Amino acid sequence: MNKLIYKNRVPHYIESVMMQVFHITPFLEILKKHRDFSRAIEIGTADGGFTNLLADYFTNVYTFDIKSKKINLYDHKNIQQITANMHELNEIENKLLPIISQQGNNIIFIDGGDKAKEANLISNYIKSNDLILCHDFSIDANDFFNRGKMIWNCAECYEEFLNLKNLKRSELFDIGLNFAWGTYERNF
Ligand SMILES: C[S@@+](CC[C@H](N)C(=O)[O-])C[C@H]1O[C@@H](n2cnc3c(N)ncnc32)[C@H](O)[C@@H]1O
Repeated sequence: MNKLIYKNRVPHYIESVMMQVFHITPFLEILKKHRDFSRAIEIGTADGGFTNLLADYFTNVYTFDIKSKKINLYDHKNIQQITANMHELNEIENKLLPIISQQGNNIIFIDGGDKAKEANLISNYIKSNDLILCHDFSIDANDFFNRGKMIWNCAECYEEFLNLKNLKRSELFDIGLNFAWGTYERNF
């Protein structure tokens, strides 16, 4: 069964809206092969379409949203939904830090209400083999107008918004641009 479908011209995972480029799966394949990730963490669950897709690729998926709406998990047993405000340091420290500090590598998909703010706050806690990815990403306004908007019609995060004392481009950075993701890792 093809689980990724268009409904009313919007990408869906079965019945759940997925706010990603429709051709996102090759990027997930590349990420999965790049490193052994013990868990994927999504900031910004929304309808859960992308959450369910991540659960097809990664062993454990944790998804955070400020809203407490329960998503459809279909048959996935590897998704944990957590309600938290990822703009508040104490919520990050109490609810996210215990997860990312566990043994093993994290891949963190930042897709909440303010991607740069979330990435900058969370970047203080990531480990050396973690990846941290920012969605709705173009390098800068020129990059968005010349390239990015042909892929994804939204730019919320430019590199200049990120704290590059903590973050540096990962070797998958150029590939990620084709899927509206900025792909970073720890720079300290
Ligand atoms: C763009 S949607 C996420 C889309 C989803 N990742 C996908 O690919 O289908 C953004 C989500 O971020 C959530 N959000 C906004 N501000 C937040 C915050 N401070 N902390 C956690 N989640 C937040 C919103 O409630 C919304 O569900």
